[in-house]
Amino acid sequence: MFRLFYVSTASPDFGPSDIKPLVETASAKNRKLGITGALKFNGINFAQVLEGEKDAVLRLMSTIRYDKRHTGVIVVAEIESDERMFGHWDMSFVDGLDFQDFVNAMSSRKEEREQNA
Ligand SMILES: Cc1cc2nc3c(=O)[nH]c(=O)nc-3n(C[C@H](O)[C@H](O)[C@H](O)COP(=O)(O)O)c2cc1C
Repeated sequence: MFRLFYVSTASPDFGPSDIKPLVETASAKNRKLGITGALKFNGINFAQVLEGEKDAVLRLMSTIRYDKRHTGVIVVAEIESDERMFGHWDMSFVDGLDFQDFVNAMSSRKEEREQNA
């Protein structure tokens, strides 16, 4: 299991009404690819966690990276893990300003892994 976390900036013409179609497409495609995760949008920035088979996640990420609906994609963390954190969601959309729980989730796992190394 591979988990990737990135942040990006929405394009200027991307608005709240554009979220629904994005999440619908993403959920359907993720289900086919066996990818789960969560997406946050605070009106300016996206934060997304994608998890699944490494090849599938990286391939999807290379599509997402060049999506014109956002720019400045920064992959913050990539980790191997035994279990899914978002196994119930093909793509859970979380509306809100607080990205901290994503950051905490990724960094705590990283520390755990470093401790076990
Ligand atoms: C912020 C953001 C997050 C996205 N997340 C996903 C996702 O989780 N899964 C997905 O299939 N597409 C996601 N997309 C859309 C992809 O970039 C792409 O449009 C979609 O996968 C369809 O690609 P295709 O036409 O090559 O099949 C996201 C796009 C943006 C801007």
